[in-house]
Amino acid sequence: MIVLGIESSCDDTAIAIINDDKILAEKNSSQIDIHQAFGGVVPELAARNHVEIIDKLIISALAEANLKISQIELIAATGGPGLIGGVITSVMIAKGIALRNNIPLIFVNHLEGHALVPRFSENNLNFPFLIFLASGGHCQILEALNIGKYIKYGETLDDAIGESFDKVAKILGLNYPGGPYIEKAAKSGNKHKYKLPISMYKRANCDFSLSGLKTACKNLADQLAPLNKEKINDIAACFQHVVALQINDRVEYAIKKFSKKHDLTKKYLVFSGGVAANQYIREELKKMLIKHNFQLICPPTKLCTDNAVMIAWAGLENYKIGKINDLSFKPKSRWNLY
Ligand code: KG4
Ligand code: ZN
Repeated sequence: MIVLGIESSCDDTAIAIINDDKILAEKNSSQIDIHQAFGGVVPELAARNHVEIIDKLIISALAEANLKISQIELIAATGGPGLIGGVITSVMIAKGIALRNNIPLIFVNHLEGHALVPRFSENNLNFPFLIFLASGGHCQILEALNIGKYIKYGETLDDAIGESFDKVAKILGLNYPGGPYIEKAAKSGNKHKYKLPISMYKRANCDFSLSGLKTACKNLADQLAPLNKEKINDIAACFQHVVALQINDRVEYAIKKFSKKHDLTKKYLVFSGGVAANQYIREELKKMLIKHNFQLICPPTKLCTDNAVMIAWAGLENYKIGKINDLSFKPKSRWNLY
């Protein structure tokens, strides 16, 4: 089935055309250059830029796939959650194309896109499995029972993990989005140089907290000012190390909970969302998971960060189980998966 995927819920405008599990075309336009000067996404600017480019990306994706719009069999667009101006852009262009060409329409929960995309590349990833979703706007541990059926194990009580990378990067004078810059700086730093707090450590739940760590990094940076490259690298390494310790502690609690419930020979943790691009966090998670006989599944890096393949795929998965939307769907800034 040929699916057109449309995503514009944050700062990437992304279009993909898939044919079942094959990618026929992918067109992305990042707004990083626009938001970099502000150290974060400016919603109004994001919305205006999505509107400006989205139709051009659809036309060039169709050309790349050598398809006419009439050959698209399903339109899958992000229906939320996200910055509302961006979500409206995806929803309205999807409705327009579907109405004009009489194509079935499905609106995808962006988080379900992140959650299901590993099944696009891993054919044998069967339900149930655990998901650790960490992006700029979200941080949750979920049990995936089926398409559309999720149980929340825990979530952040304050900042999302990607958001904390972005904020600490700003404190250190690094670029936006902070994740890749902190990861790079941390490679040359000493992760044991400074003592930073590990929030939620050993608590009997799966919740996260990042704001105290961000404040601790701010205080440390102020104490050490003026910062030079060596200090920046060391703070970045200590921050990333402590985030990884918190993640392992919280995920380990989730694993024990999941294992008590499900007696499976093969157990999987899916790590998805922009933060899953972080190799250090992946490696630390992997070491902990081996002890519990769990396998780590991460989508390829380009499918970890926001993309339209995940929206097309999650749309197809939902369509196959009989879900469908009509023109009455309203864009959602908030939309829980569980
Ligand atoms: O999933 P995503 O592209 O967009 C949202 O839905 O938020 O995630 C973007 C977030 C940003 O906060 C970015 O700093 C973070 O993912 N990120 C990373 C890395 N690459 C991107 N965080 C840590 N390490 C990375 N290598
Ligand atoms: Zn995302």
